[in-house]
Parts: sequence; structure tokens; C-alpha cells
Amino acid sequence: MEMKGGLSDLFASRRLVVVSNRLPYNPSRTSRGIRYVKGSGGLVTALDPILRLSNGLWIGWDGGTGPPMKEKRVTVSEPEGEGSYQLRFVNLTEKEISHYYYSFSNRTLWPLFHNFIGMIHFSSADWKTYFKTNAYFAGTILEEANPSDIIWVQDYHLCLVPNFIRYQNPDLRPYFFLHTPFPPYDTFRVLPWGKPILEGLLGSEKIGFHLKNYADNFLDCVEKILNGHVDRERGIVELEGRKVKVGSHPISIDYDAFHDMALTKRVIKRVQKHRRRIEDRVVILGVDRLDYTKGIKERLLAVERFLEKHSKFRNRVLFIQVAVPSRTRVDEYRVMKREVDETIGRINGRFTGEGWPPIQYIYRSISREELVAYYRLADIALITPGRDGMNLIAKEYVASQVDMKGVLILSEFAGAAEELTEALLVNPYDIETVCETIHKAIRMSLREKRRRMEKMQDLGKRRDIYCWVRDFFEEVD
Ligand code: UDP
Ligand code: G6P
Repeated sequence: MEMKGGLSDLFASRRLVVVSNRLPYNPSRTSRGIRYVKGSGGLVTALDPILRLSNGLWIGWDGGTGPPMKEKRVTVSEPEGEGSYQLRFVNLTEKEISHYYYSFSNRTLWPLFHNFIGMIHFSSADWKTYFKTNAYFAGTILEEANPSDIIWVQDYHLCLVPNFIRYQNPDLRPYFFLHTPFPPYDTFRVLPWGKPILEGLLGSEKIGFHLKNYADNFLDCVEKILNGHVDRERGIVELEGRKVKVGSHPISIDYDAFHDMALTKRVIKRVQKHRRRIEDRVVILGVDRLDYTKGIKERLLAVERFLEKHSKFRNRVLFIQVAVPSRTRVDEYRVMKREVDETIGRINGRFTGEGWPPIQYIYRSISREELVAYYRLADIALITPGRDGMNLIAKEYVASQVDMKGVLILSEFAGAAEELTEALLVNPYDIETVCETIHKAIRMSLREKRRRMEKMQDLGKRRDIYCWVRDFFEEVD
């Protein structure tokens, strides 16, 4: 297979081994055998094409969607059928799933890293299981990998893995990427286990963050908590005679894949079908995992305010919110789901006219093709997380705008706002301004829409996911 973005040299002689908590495909048993269901989230979208390209290996948990897999490894080529790679299953016990995944990863580190301090849950039992499960992941890597592999550990679930690997086999030199923000020192220091988390990460050859600000926060913590020696100019931490690189590399998407899909007949058909149904209503779109960091409640309030204040748009605007179920066993997510359901019910109750509720709510995961059709359909994408490491939905919307008539309204607290400066940037907590920004987007001239979109597309094309990988591994030979 042709190596995009000049990646051929990198992967010609070295296998890529990606390690993340969750595998990109979750096996589920059906009467016709095992089906692989693609997982949701930015990490999977970003790394799946890279693994396909490099014929690599992906190590992770099978998602617990069925009984543990008997096979240790399988090869995936479906459903996209473009290139293949291997999956190696890490089977987790119920205790590990509960304390390591749901609790320490998603009730401690997730809110901590997103700076939602009030949501952080502290439990030393969770920490102990997180520690042991990270050691278990490291053990699986030691079983699978050899020194010629490029081992790339992903995300907050596996912070301790790099040091475990280095300690047991110094010839395996792991790399790490964090897909969330990294919080300021004053937030991070509340974590009783901050020191081992930093030490764990520093077992890496290089640690990548999306933004310079996240990398700077990390370096502050290394200086203040570990008394580490930090060379900020070169992005290097010196530790026990070893140098660890720390860099910022904003993740992206397979731009061409989204753009090309938006041009397919199947997507065009879907868009036409939607259009026949909704006629000339202005479509505003939100797409998120149902997560409290995504600002869905505040977004709904801004839509409500818009309908209240700009009454002539009632029945002329349709807000479509796709919410992908996520971490549904965690209390904070359940509470939020209830609040979102109630808010939508209230707004639809208030503003439904002539049989048309103003909000269409889709609570499930949708296919890539359906998603791209919604991107093409939407006159406005309303992407307003309270905090987000990057937000790939924003980049996917831009790539799918083949008609150049869409407007992106984007939270200034999403990592993507650093690059997508031609979006209408908003503070998602400022309901009145978000409401007025929707109004502005509706009235924007086609020329202005095109001008903004062209700039964002130029950047998206140049800095795609292949470019991201190449930049991250720049110094690797
Ligand atoms: N996505 C998905 N299924 C859906 C809707 C969205 O897999 O039904 C994907 C979408 O294409 C995007 C990712 O989920 O790549 C969301 O990534 P983002 O960075 O915006 O947020 P995350 O979920 O990683 O926090
Ligand atoms: C975010 C995280 C990923 C995670 C994804 C989906 O993108 O950074 O590591 O896989 O959300 O969350 P889940 O808990 O379902 O794996």
C-alpha cells in the first residue's frame, strides 16, 4: 500500500505497535459469528488509518461487549477494507473494568485533566487497581513487542505503562501521546498520586500533547513536583541521566477520507433525503459523545434562548444533536443524560409548532456515512465543549464542507480553536453570546462563509493525520 505523507521510511523497517485502553474494534458475538464494531471517539478515528497503513499491531481491551475472547490476536481488515492490522486482546476482570477503567480513569483522571475539579472522585482502592492494571498492560506489551518496534502508548488510562516497560526491558523505548488536555499545576497537585503518574509518563522516549499550553503545564508539574530539570526551549526533561522529549502536536483526521466521502453518491442521496423531509429549514448540528465536558446542556440553553429571542426563526430552524452513549455506568454521566433528556423535552415542549419539534435528538452511535451526510446537511455546526483536548468533530465538519456553505461555531476551550481561527469562536458558558453567534451565522453571506471555510480547509489538508504522525516521530530513524 502506498505510504501517505512520507511515512514509508518510518514504517518500512519498524512495526508500529499502538497500545490503548480500548481496541478500535470491539468484538461482539452474533448468531453468524463474531462481528467487530468500531469504537467511538477521536483516538480511534485518528489512529485507525495509520495502523492500516503500517500493517501494525494494536494492543488493548476488547471493550467487555461479550465474553472474553478466546483468541489472543485477530486481524482486522473490515469494515473499511483498506489495509489491515492485528489486534491483541487484553482481557480485563470485572474488578479491573470497574476500578481501573470506570473509576480511576474516568472519574479521577478524566475530570482532573479537563479541569473539572468538582467532579474528581478520589479512592485509593481505584488507584491500586489502576497501578496493577497498568502493570498488566505493560506485561502484554513485553510479550508482544521487540526492540525494533515503535511502541506508542496512548492516553490517560495508561500513564504508568511507559515506566513499567522501560524498567523491565530498557531496550523497548516507548512513546506516549495524551489525547486530553493536561491541567495547570494548581489543579494537578490535588491528585494524591500525581508523582507516580508523572514518573510513569517519563518512562517514555517522548511525550506528546495536542497544544503547547498542555505541554507547558506538564513541564511545570515536572519541575514543581519532581524537581526535574526542564529545558523549555528544546522541550526536554533531564532525569537520571536520560532525556525525555516533550512536544506539542495537534492531532488531526484523514482529511481526504472525509472530503471524498462527502462527495460520494451515497452521501449525496442521504443529504437529499433529509432535505426533502426538513425542506428549507436551517440545520444546526451538534455531535458528541454524551460527556459532561462537551457542553451539551449549555448548548441546548443557547438554542432555547435563540428560539425565545428570535421568534421568527421558530419552525425555520432544526437543531440536530447526535449524542453517542458513553461510560454509561458512571454516575456523573447518568445524571447528565437525565438533565439533557429533560432539557430537550422542555425545549421541544415549549417550541414545537405545526408538528415540528425544534430539536431532533439521536442517542446512538451512527455510521461514518450517516455522520458525513449530517456534516454536509448542516448549515451550522455548533461545537461548544466546556473543555476538550482537541475535538475532531470540528475538523471533520470542515473537511466535509464540499459546498463551502457551512459555518463552524466553535468553543474557544476546544484544542481545535488554536488552528480553526476562522470559526466563530465562542465562550460556551456565555449563553447570550452563543445565541447571538447562531444569529450571526444564519445571516452570514455566502462569500464570507466560503472565505472562512477555504482557509480552514487549506489548513486541514496540509495538517492531516499522516502529517501528525510524521511530525511526532520526526527524530526517529
Ligand atoms: N464518532 C463516532 N460515532 C458517532 C459519532 C462520532 O465514532 O456516532 C466519532 C467522530 O467521527 C469523531 C469522534 O467520534 O472522530 C469524536 O472525536 P472527538 O475528538 O470530537 O471527541 P472524543 O469523543 O474523542 O472526546
Ligand atoms: C476520548 C478518550 C479516548 C477514549 C474515547 C472514548 O477520546 O481520549 O481514550 O477511547 O474518548 O471513550 P471510551 O471511554 O468509550 O473509550
